[in-house]
Amino acid sequence: MDKIVIEGGHPLQGEIAISGAKNAALPLICATLLSPGPHVLENVPDLRDTRTMLALLESLGATWSRDGDTLTIDTSGLNNFEASYDLVKTMRASVLVLGPLLARMNRARVSLPGGCAIGARPINFHLQGFQQLGVRHQLDQGYVDASVDGRMEGATICFDIPSVTATENILMGAVLAKGETVIKNAAREPEIGNLVDMLNGMGAKIKGRGSDTLLIKGVTSLKPARIRVVPDRIETGTFLIAVGAIGGELTLSNCDPALLPSLYAKLGAAGVTVREEKDRLHVARREPLRAVDIKTMPFPGFPTDLQAQMMALMCFSNGLSLITETIFENRFMHVAELHRMGADIRIDGHSAIVTGTGGLRGAPVMATDLRASASLVIAGLAAEGITEISRVYHLDRGYDDLVGKLSRVGAAIHRQPA
Ligand code: EPU
Repeated sequence: MDKIVIEGGHPLQGEIAISGAKNAALPLICATLLSPGPHVLENVPDLRDTRTMLALLESLGATWSRDGDTLTIDTSGLNNFEASYDLVKTMRASVLVLGPLLARMNRARVSLPGGCAIGARPINFHLQGFQQLGVRHQLDQGYVDASVDGRMEGATICFDIPSVTATENILMGAVLAKGETVIKNAAREPEIGNLVDMLNGMGAKIKGRGSDTLLIKGVTSLKPARIRVVPDRIETGTFLIAVGAIGGELTLSNCDPALLPSLYAKLGAAGVTVREEKDRLHVARREPLRAVDIKTMPFPGFPTDLQAQMMALMCFSNGLSLITETIFENRFMHVAELHRMGADIRIDGHSAIVTGTGGLRGAPVMATDLRASASLVIAGLAAEGITEISRVYHLDRGYDDLVGKLSRVGAAIHRQPA
């Protein structure tokens, strides 16, 4: 299996163009199932997860082609409603085909995704929501077998807590339902706004974009879409935090500065300067790193997908930092790996107490999930000596050419084939 090898201590200097967001591209790809015909998606990152999603669509009868970062997906030949275990087990987001398949084919058989490294991650909100829209489902051989007689029926759905993919799934089902659907306590992540724009562009009638209440007036048919995937705010944040750890000066282009409000405040308090300019961000650290506390929250709060990276950063401060994870129950797996690099971190329930020691030392470490892998890359960039990260397939799921992008701005990083 490939490894990433990093020699720490080289500040980052130059410009990186940010790719389209994984967590926006995945639901947009699924939304193409809602209407036959060729759909065009621009700024689509080339990731293991986007390829898995395309393989899933192919298994349902769709065809696609890629030209640079533009994807054309034709779902006219849809002829299957089963998302198989083999595809779903490698990527939980596969569950996002449930809503579109129910809307277009009135039937969906989707393998239950099961637990994953960062937590149990049930899909009960998705299933309860569809039930309210008139869908029957049963569990059969590890598959959710769901069906509805004709169109779904609009209803008012209120989530216990905001869920990103449940909001997206119900949204994609409700756009073709009879009557009105209201989603209350909806997640407000920017990737959902991207999906709303795509669906409205296809002829859907959704109001409340960006708010916690979405109002959907069902329509009888939709037309093919043309949409651009929003910039990846988590990739953007990962590079901003990397500069905080190792120093230097980076410009990030093709990004949307409005998507990371909570991160700039924390980075500013930690001594990292971020300057916003239209679709660019300039980041530098010219003062000693200060410890800050973090608590993950749904958008616009601090994203759980940047918690691990921020923890790596805090290891390089000289103070005490309290990092609280409120979204997923098992998202501290990077802690054991950071310990191998000399970090002083104690876990107490949902919180981690980081005692910054001013630095880390390179070591062989293992990636455990996507964002944990990114935190190890950041730790390795700023640590003394060599860090070797194994199981890098996790990184390939969600970062488009991370190693290439970092090495072009001065990092001593390369991929070592197995
Ligand atoms: N939850 C339930 N029941 C459900 C759905 C969610 O209890 O039916 C709980 C979850 O267990 C969690 C909370 O609700 O405690 C919020 O989870 P959410 O459903 O919002 O997460 P998700 O939709 O499965 C998306 C991203 C994740 C990101 C989270 C939180 C995609 C494809 N995935 O997951 O991205 O961490 O939102 O922002 O959009 C990543 O990119 O590395 C990643 C894990």
